[in-house]
Parts: sequence; C-alpha cells; structure tokens
Amino acid sequence: MNVPFLDLKKQYDSIKPEIDSAIQEIINSSAFIGGAAHKKFEEAFAAHQNVKFCVGVANGTDALYVALKSMGLGAEDEVIVPANSFIATSEAVSLTGARVVFADVSRATALIDVADVERKITAKTKAVIPVHLYGQPAPMKELKALAQKRGLKILEDSAQAHGAAIDGVRVGNFGEAATFSFFPGKNLGAYGDGGAIVSNSQELAEKCRMYANHGRLDKYDHKMEGINSRLDGLQAAILSVKLKHLEKWTEQRIAIADHYDKHLSKEVERFERVQGNRHVYHLYVIKVKDREALQAHLKEKGVGTGIHYPIALPLLKAYAHLGHTEKDFPVASRLCKEIMSIPVDGAMTMDQARYVTDVIGGFYSK
Ligand SMILES: Cc1ncc(COP(=O)(O)O)c(C=O)c1O
Repeated sequence: MNVPFLDLKKQYDSIKPEIDSAIQEIINSSAFIGGAAHKKFEEAFAAHQNVKFCVGVANGTDALYVALKSMGLGAEDEVIVPANSFIATSEAVSLTGARVVFADVSRATALIDVADVERKITAKTKAVIPVHLYGQPAPMKELKALAQKRGLKILEDSAQAHGAAIDGVRVGNFGEAATFSFFPGKNLGAYGDGGAIVSNSQELAEKCRMYANHGRLDKYDHKMEGINSRLDGLQAAILSVKLKHLEKWTEQRIAIADHYDKHLSKEVERFERVQGNRHVYHLYVIKVKDREALQAHLKEKGVGTGIHYPIALPLLKAYAHLGHTEKDFPVASRLCKEIMSIPVDGAMTMDQARYVTDVIGGFYSK
C-alpha cells in the first residue's frame, strides 16, 4: 500500500465537478480580482470561524504582516513568537520593522510556553503571536490573562488551524485578530497562494482591508500607502467550494489521529491533546529517538513523512545575528531532533491509517 504524505489530486477528484464549474464561472464573468465570489468566501469563512469580519489576502505571510501593521506594530516595538513554527511567523514581525523575540515551547504540546513568554517581556514588548501549531490551539486562556496584565496585543497565527477551538470557541476569537493560510497543503487550501485575516473589530478589519489594497477602500481614494495583497477571485471561488467539505475532512483527520493515539507503538511518544481543545490535526507529529531509521523504513514501505520543523526558528541562519544557541531554547532545540510528521489528511482512509501503524509497529518489533 502507498500512503503519500499528502494527496491533493485525490481530494480534487472527489469534488471535481463542483470545482470545475466554480472556476468556469469566474472565467466567464472575468471576476478575477474582488467581486461576488471574493465577498461570498469572506462571509462564509467568517461564519466558519464564528467571527464578525474576514479580509482575504494573497497568502498567510501577508496576512500576518498586514495584521501587525494595522495593529500599529513597527520600529522600537518587540513582538514575542514561539521558537517552533514556520519562519513566516517571525518574518512578518521583522517586515514591520519591529524586533522579533523568541519564546520556548512546551515539551508536551510543542505550543508556546506562556511562562517563557512572561520571562521575555520587556518595556518594549507590544504583542505576542501564539501559533496554533499542527492544528492545536495555543494556551489562549493563560496568554490572554498575561496579555491583559502586561498590556500586550495578541495576534493568533492560525495558518494550521482552520476550525480549531477551545471549549467550543473557534480560533480567531482570542486575540485582536487571527491570520490564516490557504497554501494548497493546508486544511483549507487554495490552488495557489491565499490567506485571510479575521477579527471581531470592524475598525481593525477595515484598516487591514485598506492596507492590503493600496491604502484604499474605494477606487483612487488612497488614504495611505499600503501594499497589493488580495485574494484573487479564482482562489476565493475554489475555497468556497472546499469550505463546504472542510468539516467532514476535519472529522476524518481527527478520526485518523484517534487511531494513531490508540495504536501507535509504545516506543513512539505522542503530543498531548489538551482537554477542551478541538485539535484539527493539520499535522500528526510524533517524537522518536531513531528518526532517520524510522523515516527510511516508512519510505521503503511507501509511507510519506515530513519534519515540522527541523531547525528551531532562533537557530536558523536568518537569525544568526541574534547570537542564540540551543541552550537558549532547550525544549524547542531538542524537539527539532525528535519530531516527525506522519500522514493525516481528509482524503486518507482508515485502512491507510492502519497500514501506517502496522508499518511503524513492524519497525519496532524488528
Ligand atoms: C504557522 C504558519 N504561519 C504562517 C504561514 C504562512 O502562510 P503562507 O505560506 O500562506 O504565506 C504558514 C504556512 O506556510 C504557517 O504554517
């Protein structure tokens, strides 16, 4: 059996007529930028996250950058981000001119360590960006309490967490704003790049919309300089079709994760699923000591794997100027050497999930 890490073609085949007709409709109406499909998707996605406003942008990195700019972050400010994430989280901070400060993560969940966030706060700290990593919500109750006490803003990086929730409250409702990525491999993925900012603040959502569209809301009425970062009509139409299937795909991801939780070999260390959290399993990540050998074994048996992420952000060459060593982020540094992502996807079958646990079981019983 083959279990690719991700099979986007299989997902497309399952919804082909709907996707093809949505694409054709945009081409027929030449609604490539803005238009009805764009508005319809923004409204549907806001409803999906149970927030008031959604602004479609060109990708998840721009979403972070546009949100931070619109929240007033810039030179002289410091923003705290977790040491284990994709570089976009920290990159967006630097793009605004603010200084990125890294906090270590929890060994149990790989999510931002609130105690370390508190240690990293200085007089210049203005905001924190928790990442709902792998699809599991970050500890928002604790972070919100800290942010309120220390006067910090919160931007939720929800790039990997469409539909995730804490005690039934969807991500996007815990900070000033939240950002999403619709990169093709994400839980809700476009057929190219795409992203969104959601917020319950009309004022902030309008600022984001303006900044992402050359500083205007109306044609040629530019109130400030901005950038060009819009979700295009084709992507919006495709995302609207896929959004209708997202809950079903998410439930399948969770069912596969349940199977892994129960049936993975005892040698494999699991991450904790925090009680009350709806973890949407963008990735199912395990901790293992013999990663290279296990990866090779899985590859030989037709199972795809990944590593998210192999180098802690502060230790990337891009941040060499900060002079960090592994000792500064002991948990994230160690996790990077042990973590491995195994296949989980809405288009995957339970037979495939059973095959993955059998193959891993075979490795440890050798
Ligand atoms: C945690 C995180 N933040 C931000 C991004 C950036 O999103 P995009 O690739 O759409 O720019 C990604 C995805 O790549 C991500 O995983």
